[in-house]
Amino acid sequence: MEQGKRVALVTGAAHGIGLEIAQVLSSQEGCRVVLVDTSSDVHTAAAQIPAADAFVLDITDEAAIESVIREVVSRCGGIDILVNNAGISGRRGIKETLVADLTAEDWERVLTVNLTGSFLMCKVCVPVMRKRKWGRIVNMASQAARARSDATNAHYATSKAALIGFSRSLAFEVAGDGITVNCVAPGRISTPMTALSGEAADRIYIARAAVDRVGLPHDIAAAVAFLASDRASFITGTTLDVNGGTSMI
Ligand code: NAI
Repeated sequence: MEQGKRVALVTGAAHGIGLEIAQVLSSQEGCRVVLVDTSSDVHTAAAQIPAADAFVLDITDEAAIESVIREVVSRCGGIDILVNNAGISGRRGIKETLVADLTAEDWERVLTVNLTGSFLMCKVCVPVMRKRKWGRIVNMASQAARARSDATNAHYATSKAALIGFSRSLAFEVAGDGITVNCVAPGRISTPMTALSGEAADRIYIARAAVDRVGLPHDIAAAVAFLASDRASFITGTTLDVNGGTSMI
């Protein structure tokens, strides 16, 4: 299959890292990209990318996912690359969310978006990928799932650690169909999500990093583009840390 014909769907693509991933998959990997997000900004985002499609979609709504995926397959002929990037931090402002202060609703919401949402996207997209005997799934984890995080946020860390476990398990199930499943675990990346905690948090991060800066969305998009390519066909079930050397596992 020609790389230029590949269809890549990116969740949480209206802003931040997801938008950058969609841009890189289009401009550097020659993919036809489909952007989805709960925010209607996804339409403005897609307008910046040639031949991109956009859908307002909540990844926690299974029926809505099925309907959007049916429409994508009808417009584009299939889905080759799924990037489960949508996620929420669950933070309330800049304060740490201690376990003692978390409500069951806080916990449930973060697990539902970050973990269940990605599971549902995989569940619906894998049968589509199986038809072409080729697929790439990249799930967005976090450094918070891999090592001590500066910001105490147990529900977020739990959701991302569980996503890594889920990805490993799925990688085994689908390897025979030419589908790989991997995670990227970003460190602190400058986006609307991290703007909440501001420059002081940037300084703390840089003090711990080997590379003297916080990350940029492009650092993550480059890693995703690699894992989504033919070049990464022997890599599955793994997690790529992209964090400037703050954790070296
Ligand atoms: P962001 O908040 O800028 O973008 C996330 C996007 O996901 C938003 O456009 C939002 O509308 C969308 N979204 C939220 N819930 C959704 C749902 N239910 N269905 C569909 N879309 C939904 O966040 P950012 O910083 O770009 O993060 C992207 C991913 O990277 C997230 O999974 C985040 O946890 C992860 N990450 C980010 C880090 C950072 O430093 N920015 C560090 C580690 C991981």
